[in-house]
Amino acid sequence: MSFYEDRVLPHLINIACSSKPTRKQREKIVPLAEGDVLEIGFGSGLNLPFYDSTRVRKIWGLEPSEGMRRKAQPLVDESHLDVEVIDLPGEEIPLQADSVDTVLGTYTLCSIPDAIAALEGMRRVLKPGGRLLYCEHGVAPDENVRRWQSRLNPTWSKFTGGCNMNRDILDLITKAGFEITNDERMYIPGARMLSYNFWGSAKTVR
Ligand SMILES: C[S@@+](CC[C@H](N)C(=O)[O-])C[C@H]1O[C@@H](n2cnc3c(N)ncnc32)[C@H](O)[C@@H]1O
Repeated sequence: MSFYEDRVLPHLINIACSSKPTRKQREKIVPLAEGDVLEIGFGSGLNLPFYDSTRVRKIWGLEPSEGMRRKAQPLVDESHLDVEVIDLPGEEIPLQADSVDTVLGTYTLCSIPDAIAALEGMRRVLKPGGRLLYCEHGVAPDENVRRWQSRLNPTWSKFTGGCNMNRDILDLITKAGFEITNDERMYIPGARMLSYNFWGSAKTVR
């Protein structure tokens, strides 16, 4: 792993993900998590302050980047929640089938190389009646923005640890066997190519 990926990129991602608009998005989705929670792409732990400690029992945070896990450690240490950070990618969820009440992913499906495999794993570990909660950026509804997204994505992806700005988030979620139960979308403040947000919840189709 290069110095850039290990030391510089985690710092940049942490800054980008700490913006006020993304904090507002976290406020809308993270407090809905309940019971035993699997958070995919735990990153620098920025969701931790938004969990409702009266609803959550345990959080498993999957995060394959050592640099991101290092950044998360201070927030994990100061949190009163029961958090276990695991060094694995979303495509290799180590939990048993039907074992969690909530799967949470924020700004992560853009970066998972095999997003469908990861979502299928999330479906496997969700208990019947459990919920996938998501908040992601992705493909924009406006054709001119979409055109720029596909032009710039290859270069963008190289410098951002594999982030894709133009993924069709709802299509990925439904292709992996989920049914969307709550669907909200809008541009949040920021560059339009990166700021079209999808958030909501989904349940498994069994
Ligand atoms: C833009 S950051 C978002 C981090 C965090 N979810 C947040 O909301 O602040 C994307 C995260 O996905 C992680 N990631 C990359 N590949 C992954 C994979 N295959 N499975 C799970 N997470 C992955 C990155 O290391 C990074 O921490």
